[in-house]
Formats: sequence, C-alpha cells, structure tokens
Amino acid sequence: MSTARPTDPRTADPRTADPRTADPRTTDPRTTDGAFDAVDVIRTKRDGGQLSDGQIRWFIDAYTRGAIADEQASAMTMAIFWRGLEPDELATWTAAMIASGERLDLRSVGRPTVDKHSTGGVGDKVSLVLCPLVAACGAAVPQLSGRGLGHTGGTLDKMEAIAGWRAQLTNEQLVAQLRDVGAVICAAGAGLAPADRKLYALRDVTATVESIPLIASSIMSKKIAEGTGALVLDVKYGSGAFLPDPERGRELARTMVALGEAHGVRTSALLTAMESPLGIAAGNALEVQEALDCLAGGGPDDLRTLTVELAREMLRMAGIAGGPDPADLLAGGAAMDRWRALVAAQGGDPTAPLPLAVEREVLTAPADGFLTRLDARAVGVAAWRLGAGRARKEDPVSPVAGVRCLARPGDAVRAGQPLLELHLDDAARLPGALAALAGAYAISPAPPDPDTLAPLVLDRIGG
Ligand code: URA
Repeated sequence: MSTARPTDPRTADPRTADPRTADPRTTDPRTTDGAFDAVDVIRTKRDGGQLSDGQIRWFIDAYTRGAIADEQASAMTMAIFWRGLEPDELATWTAAMIASGERLDLRSVGRPTVDKHSTGGVGDKVSLVLCPLVAACGAAVPQLSGRGLGHTGGTLDKMEAIAGWRAQLTNEQLVAQLRDVGAVICAAGAGLAPADRKLYALRDVTATVESIPLIASSIMSKKIAEGTGALVLDVKYGSGAFLPDPERGRELARTMVALGEAHGVRTSALLTAMESPLGIAAGNALEVQEALDCLAGGGPDDLRTLTVELAREMLRMAGIAGGPDPADLLAGGAAMDRWRALVAAQGGDPTAPLPLAVEREVLTAPADGFLTRLDARAVGVAAWRLGAGRARKEDPVSPVAGVRCLARPGDAVRAGQPLLELHLDDAARLPGALAALAGAYAISPAPPDPDTLAPLVLDRIGG
C-alpha cells in the first residue's frame, strides 16, 4: 500500500507530479481507449489548471453523447464558474460546442445576413420590431430565438401570443423565408449546438449561469452555428440584467465580440440599460401590442430609440449602411409590411386580435412627486409570477399575463395616479406578484438628477 501523500496539483512540478493531477499540457492522461478521465479533467479545472484542447473537445463531445454524467458536467461548470477559462480554453470550448451540431449555410439567401442577440431583459420586445425593420432596409435577419426562463421574457413566448403563429421551421423553410421575406423569428433547431442545450439546462439548475465564459460560449456557439454573416449583441446592464454591473457587461461584450470575429462573423456589441423595464409592457401579448404600436410609427421613446440604434449598427455590420435611415422607415410604418409577411409565413394571422386578460389590478402612487426608480428585476419577477414566464422549462405560459408601467423614471406623478397595471387570468397569482413589487419603485419630492438615470446606450464595443 502506498504511503505517499497526495500531491497538491496547484503547486506540483508537472514533470514529477501524479499524472492524474498534473498539467495536461505536459502529461496527456488519456485512458487506453483514447478518452480522458472525466474526474481528472474536472480536477484540473477545479485546481486552477489549464485544460488542453484535447480534454475540452473530448469533454464537450462526451457530455453531448451522454458518456459524461450530469453530475460531472455540473461539477465542471461550477469549477469554470470559480476558475474561469483562459482565452485559448474559451476558444476551444466554444468551437467544441459549435462542432457538437450542424452549422447552417445561409449563403444562398442572396442578401447580407445579420442577426441581433440580447442578453435578456424585462420588456425587451426589440426583436419583434427590429427583425422586420432591418429586413425592410435590405438585409436578411435570421432571428433564432429562445423561450423565457426566470424573470426575463423569451421572444418565442411573445410571438406565440399571435393566433396560429408557429416557432418551429425546418432549415429549408428558414432559408426560403429569408429569401422571400428577409425576416424570420423562429426556434433554434435541435441540431444547432446541442451541447449548449444540455449545458444551459444544467447551469440553470446548478447556479452556474452568471459566468462570463459560460454565457459567452453559450450565446456565441448558437449564433455562430446559425450561419449569420454579422451579429450585433445587445448586452444589458442594470438590475434586470444577468450581469447588473456595467463593467462585467463590458467584459462579456468584449469576450463575445472576440469569439464572433475569431469564427468569421462580423460582431459588435452595444451596452444598454436594463435598470427599468424597456418600454411600458412586460408580458407576452402586452409586448406584442407595444411592438405593433412601434411598427405603426408610435410606441414608447426608449423602445423606438434602442431599436433604431441597433438597426443602424446591424446595417453597418452587414456592410449595407448608407440607404434610408431606419428611423425614417420606422416612423413611416414601412417595417409593418415585413412584419405581416413574417407572421403570415409562419402560420399566424396578423389581423387577429391579441388576447386580453380578464382581471386587472392597479397600483397607484402613494404621494405627489417624481418617480425616481422603477426596478426592472422586480417588474420582471411580478410579470413572471402572474404567469408570463415559467418556473420549469416544460411549464406553459399565459399569453395575457403581465405588467404595464404607466409612469417612467423621471415622470411627475400625483397621489392616486395609476403607476402599475397588473394583468392576469388566475387570481391566485396576484399575492406573489404584489409581493415582488413591494419596494420596486420610489417617489421623491424632487425630480431625479438626469446624471443618475442610466444611459440607454452606454457604450459600443467592437465593430
Ligand atoms: N443566454 C444564453 O443563451 N446563454 C446563457 O448562458 C445566458 C443567456
């Protein structure tokens, strides 16, 4: 029996250390069948070591195939959460996630392709307006989207509030619609980055979502695999964002821009505010209605401004800036035709009325003054508890549930004036939503200093 004490892998000399724990760049601890040992790979990252390309590729492939257990993958994601990934590890991790499935080829679409991805926010219905708007400007927009989980809504859940609209398209239907309409909003097919599908579900239940390398590889593997030629990232900061601190948002943006460029996708990012909800509505049908108002040339200022900024950036990244300004097209209602064509092409009825909630509850201002704060996360959680979002990914969502914010930070308000309107179809959900909104807003006698209001677009990264 050996009496040797285990070697501390953080301090061991890799030339003499136990091969199970040594630096894998100097010692390749493969088993005889060519695989690595999952426990060795996890231990290396747990102890702050650097993973080899071979280890990373093997780990992602084996997990996707089911040869690595969920508990081992969750240990690995927790190790990455604490230890991070070096840039070359992250590049390999992302490449392995892309290689876990197919990569679409959109060259036959015949126009420059450009997509937008938001890191998630409350009331973020920008995609519904932006996709037809950028198509109306001459690009093709493959807006492959997800469902909401937690306090941020998902684009597909919003679109499914439209009677008949379907999220699932085959790759052939996607390409044909991009060619004919120029705009598609649909679910990412099961063949795109299947490693991320498994890893993201695991991270969601193991508190390992808020990690820059894991978020960056998750988002970028899907966006690179979808085949877009250019990409604009809307990275949120503020209370409703995954990463509230703008510095962490900036770091995430830089990391994703570098990954996109390394894979030949022209990528840039805007760092944008998610301190208060975007626009007025948070909730599925309520947000579709607000998007329609915007497509008709109206809608809330912040939604219109952000959509136009993102559209200009997308056209620049697609190499087709210089035509009509998206602000003019939006104001003139030109994107509405593309919207109707998009909805109809996916089985929806663009003329059908949107569903409405049977019950409403109004919260009023307790005093005269100015609204100085309206917390995005609290409004998102309230909408979610009313039924607009899901607790588990298999849960249904209510199309009608949500919150309308009837005053915005900076607005003067009078005592008794409606501030928030809660929409619901299940009265049992109201107490939880009201609890989420306790302390969600502040009213002060003086207007807020404009310098304390978060700028809508704080920075641009890359491009
Ligand atoms: N969205 C994703 O697709 N992945 C993440 O990790 C976080 C947000």
